[in-house]
Amino acid sequence: MAAKAWQGVFSEATDRRVEKFSESVSFDHRLFDQDVRCSIGHAQMLAKVGLITSDECRQIEQGLGAIRQEIEQGVFPFRIELEDIHMHIEKALIERIGDVGRKLHTARSRNDQVSTDLRVWVREAIDIIDARLLDLQKAFVGRCDGDHDVILPGYTHLQRAQPVLAAHYWLAYTEKLQRDRGRLADCRRRVNSLSLGAAALAGTSLPIDRHDTAERLGFDDVAANSLDVSSDRDFVLEFAFALSLIAAHLSTWAEEWILWSTTEFNFIKLPQTFCTGSSIMPQKINPDVLELTRGKSARVIGNLTQLLVLIKGLPLAYNRDLQEDKEPLFDSYDTVNACLELAAPLVAGAELRREAIAERLDRGHLDATTLMEAFISRGIPQRTAHELVGKLVRLALEKGCRLADLTLDEFRSVHGELDTWVYDSLGARRAVESFKSYGSTAPSQVADQIARWKQRLSLT
Ligand code: ARG
Repeated sequence: MAAKAWQGVFSEATDRRVEKFSESVSFDHRLFDQDVRCSIGHAQMLAKVGLITSDECRQIEQGLGAIRQEIEQGVFPFRIELEDIHMHIEKALIERIGDVGRKLHTARSRNDQVSTDLRVWVREAIDIIDARLLDLQKAFVGRCDGDHDVILPGYTHLQRAQPVLAAHYWLAYTEKLQRDRGRLADCRRRVNSLSLGAAALAGTSLPIDRHDTAERLGFDDVAANSLDVSSDRDFVLEFAFALSLIAAHLSTWAEEWILWSTTEFNFIKLPQTFCTGSSIMPQKINPDVLELTRGKSARVIGNLTQLLVLIKGLPLAYNRDLQEDKEPLFDSYDTVNACLELAAPLVAGAELRREAIAERLDRGHLDATTLMEAFISRGIPQRTAHELVGKLVRLALEKGCRLADLTLDEFRSVHGELDTWVYDSLGARRAVESFKSYGSTAPSQVADQIARWKQRLSLT
């Protein structure tokens, strides 16, 4: 049996069932690389302040490097009686280099060690998710030129509302993803504060230099309150929230494309390599990747809830409950990462069914609002203009025609001063072209935004 680091005070061995119940190495082994790097940074600081010699530091570094290799090669022995990855690595170090290894845990507790390792892990996870979001933004922006003359019906309440350029749609998602990236960057700033040196909860009486450790481990800042930081998991929750919102955005997109790929909408053709079939209905080509992207957002949102409930009743400082932070965190990261990995090629590989879209663009009076605005431009008060166009739409509905098919006499039947100019803003194309405001779907506005995004994402 492996001797436990904390067994001095105990006269009886731990119940095996307790070892099984309380181990975390089955999931926190993922932190091995971060643990080795943080331990090396810690040892180097200990050497710098004279708590260990530089020769001892070298032995520790070499020992940790060799242990890392063993873990990477899959030959490292894990045993649940050593609880977590941190105890495993320390124990292996002591077995390897003897008493010098017993000095590594100087001025350190597992409480600040876990927190530091996890901060480094989250920092790196953020960078990976950010790169994936960038890839997805590039996929959306990459569609803009090819789809540049396509007009889509824009919806509110899932009812046809006003026409929009397809590129306006692609850039809408690009903006959402940019905010997601902004949230990650903001979260990263608070993640990147050093906890190590907080020790168990109160700091240490030994002459350590936390700013030196911070610099070695790439932290921008040193946490100023040991009680706070040894119990703090805000950074885990913030990341879990940022991931939840990314998952929610992906779910929105997936839902939209699931609808768009139906026979009823027939707006989009998904790449067959991203679809699956039915075991009973031979004709089916199902959008399973999109459905799973929508479905998996549930677990990411669930994980965030789990983390909030986990921390809400914890008194300061460390409590073992906090060990329960890792599985939801890892799961949210893995899930969003997997969804994003498929989202970018799916966005790039789908085709708009241009003809089917164009054929039905005349339905739903998408030009009614711009017609109302044409009335306003000619001095008719908005409320009056709204009512007049409402009457014209009613007339068109009765006749089963477009607004553009009404005769001038019919237009004049609601307002005597209307003239042939009414036809200038009718039809989806003319309606789109009549937009002017900043951020609108006006072709010149959208062209400016495409150029801005290409530059921002270095696509030019
Ligand atoms: N494996 C534990 C965790 O992840 C670390 C235990 C820390 N401290 C303690 N006194 N048991 O939170």
